Amino acid sequence: MPFEHPNPQVQAFGRRVEAEFSDEASGHDWWHVWRVWRLARRIAAAEGAEVRTCELAALGHDVEDHKLGRPAGTLAAWLAEAGVDEATAARVVAIAQRVSFKGAGVPDAMPTLEGRVVQDADRLDAIGAIGVARAFAYGGARGRLLYDPHEAPERHDSFEAYRKTNSSSLMHFYEKLFLLKDRMHTPTARALAEERHAFMEAYVQRFLDEWEGNA
Ligand code: ADP
Ligand code: NI
Repeated sequence: MPFEHPNPQVQAFGRRVEAEFSDEASGHDWWHVWRVWRLARRIAAAEGAEVRTCELAALGHDVEDHKLGRPAGTLAAWLAEAGVDEATAARVVAIAQRVSFKGAGVPDAMPTLEGRVVQDADRLDAIGAIGVARAFAYGGARGRLLYDPHEAPERHDSFEAYRKTNSSSLMHFYEKLFLLKDRMHTPTARALAEERHAFMEAYVQRFLDEWEGNA
């Protein structure tokens, strides 16, 4: 069933994203977008953020992701085609431009509560059980090893260095996923992140025990 929403503009925009993302297997597929939308809606309500802006920004947050190669202006065009007013569209574009993780040493700059809600929602979907699945799916799509015991994790102080990394999927937990809990902005997301983080830590411990043949 196509994306449904009581607001016609949000529904039209969501359906556009759904249509364009449904054959994406990079971990930025429609269902990632859908989960981020669900989380953003929930966090926005709990934190008193403007829910409609958060929903649109969640649905649009990966449209111009650097890994997907769509040209600048695509997001604004899709929002306009869905009938979203210009002021809201401008807020959504501003959030989407800032949402992505750019390396452990690169600070976040998210000036609005709505942006912080969407960034939290996107990051929650990178951790926990879903996060484990996405990390290995992403690594597999790029032909990476599950784990390479000879590697040491790197701390990336620039987006360039982070983008160029070619380490195993397990290293990604140390280079990004274990850092996300402490970078949550809102109390609502932080509470969810604590649980997801604990699950991931137990998972990686178990992975390494099994790797050595100790479990
Ligand atoms: P963001 O949404 O912050 O831009 P990315 O686009 O970098 O995040 O990542 C999308 C998904 O792919 C996330 O679940 C992320 O953890 C995973 N991922 C990104 N880079 C790697 C990597 N080098 N190894 C394994 N998984 C990765
Ligand atoms: Ni995302």
